[in-house]
Amino acid sequence: MAEIIHIPENAEKAVKYKILKEQLLLILEGENDLVANMANIVAAIKEVFGFFWVGFYLRKGAELVLGPFQGPVACIRIQVEPIPRGVCGTSAAKNKTILVPDVEKFPGHIACSSLSKSEIVVPLVINNRTVLVLDVDSKELNAFDDQDKAGLESIVEILLEVYQTN
Ligand code: SME
Repeated sequence: MAEIIHIPENAEKAVKYKILKEQLLLILEGENDLVANMANIVAAIKEVFGFFWVGFYLRKGAELVLGPFQGPVACIRIQVEPIPRGVCGTSAAKNKTILVPDVEKFPGHIACSSLSKSEIVVPLVINNRTVLVLDVDSKELNAFDDQDKAGLESIVEILLEVYQTN
């Protein structure tokens, strides 16, 4: 197993995501435990990009429940049905990535920390149902763009096969 993430600090963001995905594939190779793989994914994203909070929520019935994360303690349960709550619940209900440049302008945003200023939530969708989401928070406004969306969506996809065999 590759144990250290090597990414040139001055590389462009899209390149960083590409190398990060390649390295994650090596790190996770042959491991089919979902929680272990989610834990290494959030650790690697946090290490490379230094975001404030990086974590997964797993769909359990009508809710999302906190999974492996890096950062300050966070909200545990987020409703998806019947009324989606927060950015995570909305992403899970719509099966879509949601970019929030300013959390104060997102109606119903759930503030686990007042330090979080912008956010991106990426779902893993199987058979038209969100089974988990990756939530990334930044202390900066406007921290995420289409490159983060593409990069994080591509990283979340790594879990597709493992999720289905767990
Ligand atoms: N802000 C999220 C809640 C999760 S925390 O940011 C870790 C939301 O609105 O769904």
